[in-house]
Amino acid sequence: MNPNSIKGTLLVSVVLCVACSLLVSSAAVLLRPMQEANKKLDQQRNVLLAAGVDVDSMSSDEIVAMFNDETKVERVLIDLSTGEAVDVEAAGIDLATYDPKKAAKNPELSERVHAGGGPTHGISRREKYAFVYQIKNENGEIDKYVLPIYGKGLWSTLYGFIALQGDVRSVGGVTFYEHKETPGLGGEVDNPAWKAKWSNKQAFDEQGNVDFHVIKGTVDLNSAQAAHQVDGLSGATITSRGVSNMVQYWVGPDGFGKFLEKQRAQ
Ligand SMILES: Cc1cc2nc3c(=O)[nH]c(=O)nc-3n(C[C@H](O)[C@H](O)[C@H](O)COP(=O)(O)O)c2cc1C
Repeated sequence: MNPNSIKGTLLVSVVLCVACSLLVSSAAVLLRPMQEANKKLDQQRNVLLAAGVDVDSMSSDEIVAMFNDETKVERVLIDLSTGEAVDVEAAGIDLATYDPKKAAKNPELSERVHAGGGPTHGISRREKYAFVYQIKNENGEIDKYVLPIYGKGLWSTLYGFIALQGDVRSVGGVTFYEHKETPGLGGEVDNPAWKAKWSNKQAFDEQGNVDFHVIKGTVDLNSAQAAHQVDGLSGATITSRGVSNMVQYWVGPDGFGKFLEKQRAQ
């Protein structure tokens, strides 16, 4: 067949299209396990970052090894309505594949948000079960609790982690790993200098009620509330308010509050 004929041109185009689509789809299938592993590693890296671990000096293998050793990091699936660890068999959950982000959109695995009039994370449903990461010290005692947090900013849902110290009151650190806020404005949630301001802030009052605020402007260090406040991001009041609300929601009674209360009582 003459390749310059209409039939020839069509045949070459069809063969080329089929070959390219096969190549692209096989690459997608073959690379999926690697992408999944990288996604998991990124999450683990961010859990440690929130807890103030110097992850930049750690290799990927060292990070994975930490999460495979329950004396270093213990991941527990919590039933948010009771604050107790989930009986995964009874709940029919496979821990290897359970994804809280997907669960939040599944009517069977999620519930309506009922924060009792307090701030919410800006989304009408949330997952029933969420992971808590317990970071241990050399003696195997819990040094920090790292909780996943997410909620609406201005343009996007921000996903991150907040760490609470072993006293279950003071903040150990915060990090965001996914958002679409404006670089230089809401995107300053990623600024290490801003995140450093969270360390040792108090998330609860003496009675154990949530008392934590990202305020508009700069914290007055002489004020009695200073220990419960973090500077707002300038020019990004909406993102700052979103972050403030999501923290209040997730450490509060409709989030991890019941779990945290039990830990504090221990
Ligand atoms: C292009 C553009 C991008 C913006 N991005 C953000 C943002 O990411 N987060 C935010 O809170 N405000 C953002 N703003 C500003 C908000 O519209 C709003 O003015 C601001 O949150 C008010 O904050 P301020 O009182 O500190 O000025 C953006 C504004 C513009 C014009």
